Amino acid sequence: MIITIDGPAGAGKSSVARALARRLGFRFLDTGAMYRAVALAGLRRGLDWDVPQDLARLAERLDLKISHDRVVLDGEDVSEAVRTSAVTAVTRYAADNPQVREHLVDLQRKLAGADNIVTEGRDQGTVAFPEAKCKIFLTASPAERARRRWQDLQAQGEPVTIEQVLAAQERRDREDAARAVGPLRPASDAIEVCTDGLSLTEVVDRLEQLARAKCR
Ligand code: DC
Repeated sequence: MIITIDGPAGAGKSSVARALARRLGFRFLDTGAMYRAVALAGLRRGLDWDVPQDLARLAERLDLKISHDRVVLDGEDVSEAVRTSAVTAVTRYAADNPQVREHLVDLQRKLAGADNIVTEGRDQGTVAFPEAKCKIFLTASPAERARRRWQDLQAQGEPVTIEQVLAAQERRDREDAARAVGPLRPASDAIEVCTDGLSLTEVVDRLEQLARAKCR
């Protein structure tokens, strides 16, 4: 069974998807980490972002492994490196590139195989796994999402203000919604869950109920 969790940045998808997968004994796939890893590789090689074919070619050559919550790029664990602000700032070059998307969606389907999996991203219910049995669209208010992201960055020791996080978030929301291929939007059969005011456990409880009901 495939459970897709899509939604905007900061809605809590990663923590929720990871916890839900653990509860159900499913595998977990963080597809945002895949776009981040391609961007990190481009950044390290000093690619010209104005030449999308170069990034597409690079993406196809990369040895990208996602195992539970670790991201391994050409044999190196880059799980922390892909989450820095420097990488976040350029990830849109990977996410906006149709050839990179095609390659990564293909890889996501291969990684899922015939397994039970919880997969999270922007286009999991619409493009990658339109046939998934259980689709969730996870949201939260912009202020709540910015507060969560700011807390994460503080924990990583990144000196940013909440206003800067909010401005960057608004930009990413616009980019996510306007993307020509794989834009952020709920699948017609997705169930929308707003996480404002709910604890992680409360959200996971709700999703577990939904998933078990869909399994029946
Ligand atoms: O969820 P995240 O912040 O780690 O995602 C990083 C970027 O990748 C974000 O700008 C949206 C994009 N993304 C995407 O376009 N499609 C996905 N399935 C997952 C992420």
